[in-house]
Amino acid sequence: MIPIARPIVDDEEIEAVARVLRSGILAHGPEVEAFEREFAEYIGVDYAVAVSSGTAALDLILKAYRIRHGDEVITTPFTFIATANAILYQGARPVFADIDPETYNLDPDKVLELITPRTRAIIAVHLYGHPADMKPLREIAEDHNLILIEDAAQAHGAEYMGKKVGSLGDVAAFSFYPTKNMTTGEGGMVTTSDKKIAERIRLLRNHGQAEKYLHTELGYNLRMTSIAAAIGRVQLRKLEWMNQRRRENAETMTKILQAVKGIEPPVEKPWVRHVYHQYVIRVTDSFPLTRDQLAEKLRGHGIATAVHYPRAIPDQPLYKSLGIDCPQGCPEARRAARQVLSLPVHPAVTIEQAKTIAETVKQIVEG
Ligand SMILES: Cc1ncc(COP(=O)(O)O)c(C=O)c1O
Repeated sequence: MIPIARPIVDDEEIEAVARVLRSGILAHGPEVEAFEREFAEYIGVDYAVAVSSGTAALDLILKAYRIRHGDEVITTPFTFIATANAILYQGARPVFADIDPETYNLDPDKVLELITPRTRAIIAVHLYGHPADMKPLREIAEDHNLILIEDAAQAHGAEYMGKKVGSLGDVAAFSFYPTKNMTTGEGGMVTTSDKKIAERIRLLRNHGQAEKYLHTELGYNLRMTSIAAAIGRVQLRKLEWMNQRRRENAETMTKILQAVKGIEPPVEKPWVRHVYHQYVIRVTDSFPLTRDQLAEKLRGHGIATAVHYPRAIPDQPLYKSLGIDCPQGCPEARRAARQVLSLPVHPAVTIEQAKTIAETVKQIVEG
């Protein structure tokens, strides 16, 4: 079976972890600081703050900006649940704007319609590794004095108009979960060029400790371990190669799939560099099988698939129970949830396998 995700971890990571274990410094220390410096330099920002997960990164960002009860944060209904939950953690209200059907990312025009005097921030997700349309979002944020947050959990190394994601808004959150473009096991990172926010996140991730046993505010333990940082440093050095492999696999599959009736392969806008965290096709109504039937057939051919994501966030039982729906109805997010299918694209997939995956889809229709 070709799996839908597999981290590329080898002797280098194993040796880095062994070195940390032998050093005796297992929690926060020089390894974490080195990872932060290297990550900040790679993204092109002044500061990077390592934390325990991507969820922790989002949570700490919203806490650092003092988002709270009564505030509204506009985001996409078509993302992993963590994006929206981070807003709920603060007691604030997520307001879902519909997506662009081509890139599956926030539609800036829809965001604009939803701004109220209570809106404090926008969280743009670079879904599947394709950057959100940050220029108009930046303009909207500036015009309405809103904080612009990037959820870059799926987009390490992606670029928008020549700049890396993570450097395009006021602040950004990355995840290093094992399925991501680079991993630390569990882990996350905040990137920003705002010194005050970086300092505040450092404080909040470590029990609000300004000096040893001097606690100036209510903080948390959301630190990254040295073991995770050691893995991350090796993974960061491999990231360009791994992203390149994803791009080659994507190109191989798109060449074949663009000729298959009823299948819409992913789009890469000319002003971005897509890093294909997921390679997501749309199985439209003119395809002879349903999305789920196609997934089942592929499984029979030894190809694993996944659906990212089968429900728009407001259709999750949690959000239904809270009565948080889409003010605009979110027809595009809901249509995407019915039609998307992720095919294996990760760097452990060979070009030959990528060809086989796409050819198999083609043969399933053509018989
Ligand atoms: C878009 C998005 N945001 C946030 C997260 C949360 O990251 P983590 O799993 O590291 O907490 C993830 C991934 O899991 C994600 O895909």
